[in-house]
Parts: sequence; C-alpha cells; structure tokens
Amino acid sequence: MEVQAIRMKEGDDKNIILASREIVKEAILDLYCSNFPERLNIADMGCSTGPNAMLAISEVMNVIDQKRRELGIGPVQFQCFLNDLPWNDFNTIFTALPEFHEKRLNKDPKGSSCFVEGMPGSFYGRLFPDKSIDFVVSSSSLHWLSQIKCDFIPDIHVLKSRSKEIVTGGRMVLTIIGRKVDDPTEEDNCFQWDCMANALMDLVSERFLEEEMIDSYNILFYPSSLTEVMNVIRGDGTFTVDRLEIIEVEGPPTVGTDGVRKGDQWAMNLRAVLEPIFIDHFGRETMDALFSRAAYHFNEFFSIRNPKFTCFVVSLVRNDRKSSDF
Ligand SMILES: C[S@@+](CC[C@H](N)C(=O)[O-])C[C@H]1O[C@@H](n2cnc3c(N)ncnc32)[C@H](O)[C@@H]1O
Repeated sequence: MEVQAIRMKEGDDKNIILASREIVKEAILDLYCSNFPERLNIADMGCSTGPNAMLAISEVMNVIDQKRRELGIGPVQFQCFLNDLPWNDFNTIFTALPEFHEKRLNKDPKGSSCFVEGMPGSFYGRLFPDKSIDFVVSSSSLHWLSQIKCDFIPDIHVLKSRSKEIVTGGRMVLTIIGRKVDDPTEEDNCFQWDCMANALMDLVSERFLEEEMIDSYNILFYPSSLTEVMNVIRGDGTFTVDRLEIIEVEGPPTVGTDGVRKGDQWAMNLRAVLEPIFIDHFGRETMDALFSRAAYHFNEFFSIRNPKFTCFVVSLVRNDRKSSDF
C-alpha cells in the first residue's frame, strides 16, 4: 500500500477535489483499461449543489474520454448519479444541465454520452440496486455522521451499502476530511466549532437566541483519524485499499486577491454548508446575524493562527468477498 504526503498552498472544497484528481485518474483508468466497457455507471456521494456539483463526475468522464481517444476506442455511455441528502438543492443542478450538455457536445460532437440523474438519500443507506455501480467518488462529505453516537467513529454503513452496490472489481475513491492527531479536541480540528459557538453565544447575549437552543443542539461532524478510517475499511472487509494519500490543506490567505478578509471568506464558505442544517433549529431570520458574528470570530482567530486541514484520499477496489448483511 502506498502512502504519500502532498502539501498544498491554499485550499477549499474545490482544491481538495483537484488534489485528489491524480488518484481518481489512476483508479478510473485501472477500471476502464481492465475491459474497456461501453457503458459505465458512476456516482458522486455528497455532490452538494452549485458549480462543484458536476466537477468530480466531469473529471471522471474526461479522463476516460482522453484515454479512449488515445487508444482509438469509440465513445462510452456514462450514467451519472448525483447523490446528496433529499433537501439538497438538486433543482439548481438540474437547471444547469442543458448548458453542461451543450458544452460537452460543442467540445466533441461525436463524444461519449452522459445521462445525469439525481439520487436523493443518505449514503449511509442503500442508494442503488445490487451490483449496478462501477465507480464511486465522494469528496469532503463523509465527515458528516448519520446520527449522534456515543462512539464517534466513521460509520461503517457507508461501506456496507456500497459493497452491495459496486460490482466486483469496481472502484471507489473517498476524500475524507480527517485529523492527523489522535486527540479529536486539538485546535485545528475544533476552531470552526469554537468560533461558531462563540457567535451563537453572542446572539444569546444580544437576546436573539435562548441559551437552551444552543445546549440542545449537536452538530454531526467528525473528522476521523487514519487509524479509525483503516479500522472501518478492515472491519467491512469487502474493499481492498489500492492507494492512500494524506493531503494537508491550508486555509485561504489572510486577505484574498479580491480583498476579502480570510475570516469573512471562511464564514461565507461555511454558511453555504451549514445554513441548510442550521435553519431548522435556529430559524432563517437568525442566519445573517449568526454568520456576521462568526466572521468576526474567524477574523480574530486567523489573526493569531493559520490552521491546516488534513484529508485522506483512499482509493478502494471492491474485492470478491461476500458482503455481510446488516
Ligand atoms: C462539504 S459538501 C461537499 C460537496 C462536494 N462533494 C465538494 O467536494 O465540493 C458535503 C455534502 O455532503 C452532503 N451530505 C452530508 N451527509 C450526507 C449523507 N448522509 N448522505 C448524502 N449526502 C450527505 C451534504 O449535504 C453536503 O452537500
């Protein structure tokens, strides 16, 4: 098994996808070149919405198209499943699809065809029929837990479900936000939640919110250690690790080229992820005030610290072991 460390200068969710590009490329080429299939079913788990939603899937298709052209092989039919939770904004993705298809067609009128489908549901449960999927990618999503548990470990059900759905020899590349140290309370892992907690407490002092609302709220986010990730893979037993890399991602620069302060940028990025989750509990009317207080706390924090994030990119192959029922 190969373990390498890559260091990156700046990072956000998009940069994490780009950093894992080589590993995805290697995995998809291994799969494609094993028998040059004319049809491939690929899925992105936790695709989100907006410009990144089609990025991972597009990369996969582009890699295969480039290879098949080099080899003089005809087009592939891709069936692409975009998965996220049911309340994800799938409509925004769907409305961007005509433009996406048009661009692909303009680039190569005789190119591979691509059929895109939304697959709402939790990736901890079943999403697809037995042995129907060839390739799965997932980026920056598996640190969201399915439920509050006493034992905070990555949830094995994500592998158990995929082990039924992915064909033998099929591949899966997971990019997981994790932690380098065993201590889950280490500052680099917790600063965002400390800043969010401070912002929430500001709203309590300003009488926007009741303190009980904060005490009764749990965020289902858990960055795993490498040992925990490996234990889950071994515990499931139906996937073999082909490659594993540890990526260190730095946050945005103190002031971006566009003049936006790092804390403001951070609060804005985090808002995109957290707002849909927070609205139910804290109310839509609280969001502007909450994230403007959060930006203040992030700016304070970044003026004294420059935290780094750790990601694990794990490339897995579905082996021929029978999956256990659960
Ligand atoms: C930080 S975004 C990552 C988006 C995209 N993959 C990227 O790399 O930019 C995490 C996504 O995972 C989704 N997610 C979280 N838990 C999920 C679950 N149990 N099943 C499906 N999607 C989930 C969230 O809704 C969110 O859209």
